[in-house]
Amino acid sequence: MSTDRIRVAVLFGGRSGEHAVSCISAASVLKNLDRDLFDVTAIGITRSGRWRQVDPAGLAIEPGRALPEVTDGTGDGAALLRVDTVPSALTLPTTAEMLHVDVVFPLLHGPFGEDGTVQGLLELANLPYVGPGVLASAAAMDKDFTKRLLASAGLPVAPYAVLRLPDMTLSAAERDRLGLPVFVKPARAGSSLGVCRADRWEDVPEAVAQARLHDPKVLVEAAVVGREIECGVLEFPDGRIEASPTAEIHVAGGRFYDFDAKYLDDVATFDIPAQLPAGVEERVRAMAVAAFRALDAQGLARVDFFVGDDGTVTVNEVNTMPGFTPISMFPRMWGAAGLGYRELLTVLVRTAIARGTGLR
Ligand SMILES: Nc1ncnc2c1ncn2[C@@H]1O[C@H](COP(=O)(O)OP(=O)(O)O)[C@@H](O)[C@H]1O
Ligand SMILES: [Mg+2]
Repeated sequence: MSTDRIRVAVLFGGRSGEHAVSCISAASVLKNLDRDLFDVTAIGITRSGRWRQVDPAGLAIEPGRALPEVTDGTGDGAALLRVDTVPSALTLPTTAEMLHVDVVFPLLHGPFGEDGTVQGLLELANLPYVGPGVLASAAAMDKDFTKRLLASAGLPVAPYAVLRLPDMTLSAAERDRLGLPVFVKPARAGSSLGVCRADRWEDVPEAVAQARLHDPKVLVEAAVVGREIECGVLEFPDGRIEASPTAEIHVAGGRFYDFDAKYLDDVATFDIPAQLPAGVEERVRAMAVAAFRALDAQGLARVDFFVGDDGTVTVNEVNTMPGFTPISMFPRMWGAAGLGYRELLTVLVRTAIARGTGLR
């Protein structure tokens, strides 16, 4: 019976530099949400922030068009309106038709989506949503605040300094503290956008300028020597929080895991589970759950690490809405745990509904 089905709205695209990545994730989620359980609505957000209701079937990725996009010409206008008088409703202003949904899947990466802004809107609208709440989403989006919260929970993070406008360089004391090489990165971005490695201090201002294309707030971080290991954390509807098997990312050619390595060039290979000594694997998984709790996260997160040859583990970052393409790490790590892509999506939606909105 269609009336028994849970009405899910998938939000995707959005205003950040990861618009296209979100569209690719959404195409895959829309295809795989279990239609026996869910009625699915797709809401694409344009790069300028307009909401459009689109045909979920129309979002297939066209061959030859590498990077999909939501444009003003896509679908019908939609907006989240009148949240005070019409709780839990999305309104389509062009038709004044009310679209009732039970839960929202904000499949948005980066600022204005993964950073607590959309989560706050959904709280106001009294609409349950997949993933962490306002605070954890905002804290995990900002690599400075992520590190502060992780460090205060006793988790190891790389030494770093923050550069705000108009500063382009570090003091001599900060340079001594960090040492070379350093990674220069926007505080609030993702997909490696604006991330550069600098081997000389004189290269830092140019790297800062690159990072500033994405965020005026920039981190300069000591390079960590180690393997790149990721771990998925998932909250189940009964409140259980579990860590997935780990994954290792290998990038060929001595490069770091930059945007092209993530999405364009065929240079990254993966081991799932990562081939780690048993003790290290267990430590990484325990630290992933500890990081999730340190940020007071809900729903899901992918926690990324560096693991040194001596077994030293450093937390790099926490992603509260990781990629969701079939080849993305988060679904693949859960696949290795025996939780298929479709079932994973069902867990995420059911957990969101079980949690509801409001303070908790
Ligand atoms: N401190 C660091 N030491 C070594 N490599 C780093 C460091 N910071 C970033 N990197 C490299 O850059 C990539 C992207 O940086 P990251 O901080 O994860 O940003 P994003 O949120 O864009 O993924 C990492 O996956 C890693 O390959
Ligand atoms: Mg990363």
